[in-house]
Amino acid sequence: MSMLREKSILVTGAAGFIGSHLAEVLLNQGNEVVGVDNFITGSRENIDHLQSVYPKFTFLERDISQPLDVDEELDYIFHFACPASPADFERLRFNILTTGCFGTFYLLQLAQSKEATFVFASSSEVYGDPEQHPQREKYRGNVNTTGPRAVYDESKRYGETMLTVFHDEFGLDTRMVRIFNTYGERMRLHDGRAIPAFITQALLDEDLTVFGDGSQTRSIQYISDLIGGVLLLAESDVIEPVNIGNPQEITMKLLAEEIIILSKSKSKIVYRPLPKDDPKRRQPDISTAKQLLDWEPRVMPEEGLLRTIDWFRRKLKR
Ligand SMILES: NC(=O)c1ccc[n+]([C@@H]2O[C@H](COP(=O)([O-])OP(=O)(O)OC[C@H]3O[C@@H](n4cnc5c(N)ncnc54)[C@H](O)[C@@H]3O)[C@@H](O)[C@H]2O)c1
Repeated sequence: MSMLREKSILVTGAAGFIGSHLAEVLLNQGNEVVGVDNFITGSRENIDHLQSVYPKFTFLERDISQPLDVDEELDYIFHFACPASPADFERLRFNILTTGCFGTFYLLQLAQSKEATFVFASSSEVYGDPEQHPQREKYRGNVNTTGPRAVYDESKRYGETMLTVFHDEFGLDTRMVRIFNTYGERMRLHDGRAIPAFITQALLDEDLTVFGDGSQTRSIQYISDLIGGVLLLAESDVIEPVNIGNPQEITMKLLAEEIIILSKSKSKIVYRPLPKDDPKRRQPDISTAKQLLDWEPRVMPEEGLLRTIDWFRRKLKR
């Protein structure tokens, strides 16, 4: 369990799905949080309650691909700003490029000037369409540098490189979390990622769209498990990248069927062609997280999916 308390912390992407959960947990633990976001994929709704309930929360509406001035002393920067849905990889490719490249660089400089620990939201996408299974941190990945997912995958890979240089050259205290597919409350309804898409379709009794024949797999983790892992990593002294994900693997077809059952939907499944470079299998090897952080996921998919479906149901009624 995390002991991060009474620190001054900057969270980029605070109005997004993961950033808003992270900010809330940090505030609940008595930390001061400065949230930053430009709402390109996040929403004000995700932070309204933080602004009204927590006096220790302040918010800056800024684009982090520009240098950021922050008056407060900072103990930590959690850099979580970046569009993360494959649907955005093409629509927002220039934003992902500048956020991943300039944004990460300027924030590393800010961390250096504040002597803050820098926690970077990397991704399982650094492994691309993996040829090794499950993916250990040592695996170097299979990414198409000019493909449709490249701007995201390569920005995460380059981000890790930048952290390594700032650590080695300037002694910056750095952490890299390779996040595997995470789901939960506050994802956007039309986010484009599989779980929000399936749940929205199921709750509206529309056909669920599965790409390919549905045999490709993902390993899905519930948001509270991810936040627990991120905080343990932040407090540790582990500077190498760490996979944080749920190793339980599920095919997209089974996931769609499970969501239909859990949401008591009348929907059917329809199949569409697999997008280019879509990874066929994804499964984290979490032995590093187990050994070094004493972390492993606790929430079973059925429990996490039911909570998420309930949240989407309430949201659709509004
Ligand atoms: N959700 C996952 O399964 C997953 C998996 C791997 C990695 N990640 C990483 O975790 C982080 C958060 O992802 P998420 O799922 O919450 O996505 P999200 O889209 O819900 O959140 C990203 C937030 O960053 C903000 N943002 C984007 N560009 C910005 C910029 N230039 N300036 C300021 N704010 C900006 C967006 O408005 C949004 O609020 C991202 O870095 C993502 O790459 C997520």
